[in-house]
Amino acid sequence: MIDQQWVSVDRYVTEQLVPQDEALTAALAANAAAGLRALDVTPAQGKLLHLLALIQGARTILEIGTLGGYSTIWLARALPPAGRLVTLEAEPKHAHVAQANIERAGLAHQVDLRLGPALEILPQLLVEYGASFDLVFIDADKPNTPGYFKWSLQLCRPGALIIADNVIRNGAVADPATADPNVQGMRRFFEVASKEPRVSATAIQTVGAKGYDGFALLRVKP
Ligand code: SAH
Ligand code: DHB
Ligand code: MG
Repeated sequence: MIDQQWVSVDRYVTEQLVPQDEALTAALAANAAAGLRALDVTPAQGKLLHLLALIQGARTILEIGTLGGYSTIWLARALPPAGRLVTLEAEPKHAHVAQANIERAGLAHQVDLRLGPALEILPQLLVEYGASFDLVFIDADKPNTPGYFKWSLQLCRPGALIIADNVIRNGAVADPATADPNVQGMRRFFEVASKEPRVSATAIQTVGAKGYDGFALLRVKP
């Protein structure tokens, strides 16, 4: 269910505080033209990711789940000139559209888009980068979220921030009897996070143009 008031208020907040520009609107248009599902974060959520990356002072960012690169652009724009963002995408068509969007945004020199199933690429990233990421955004296939969280812990420096998208799923996350594998994945993620002494975590429910869902925020202890 998407309440029309959530949509109106999201539009109001976005008009007031989240200026769009050519690269962002062109990315969404290119995604739609290529037939990608509109699973991107909303503009207000993209700005939240951008602000969190700035607050974190992130110089190295990992994103799991690129789609058309909309969240990638918001996050990469928070990087300092020598900063780097690695983003992982399993679908060649998504990666192709994303690469063009990232180039149009003038971010190709800072964004390293890797094509393949994330669980196959993450071990290689550990070899290349070690425990050096300042921020991780987990937003790919939901059943693998617990696995992505475990890899993120290995790839993060102390004090890093891990953000996971879609952890509330219209409230279904609180239903222990859920048969939805996406929700089951999120429940396993909460269970793993709850037992993980290396992080301090919370989750926040959100409503807006993309419905009722939420983010988890986990700080790797310094
Ligand atoms: N972060 C994007 C939205 C990502 S949607 C944004 O907000 O703009 C989820 C993406 O994860 C899809 O493009 C999907 O193809 C990708 N994905 C699904 N399974 C994956 C896997 N195993 N490895 C990497 N990417 C995967
Ligand atoms: C789905 C994935 C997302 O990243 C999202 O924000 C919303 C829905 C999905 O796979 O259904
Ligand atoms: Mg998402």
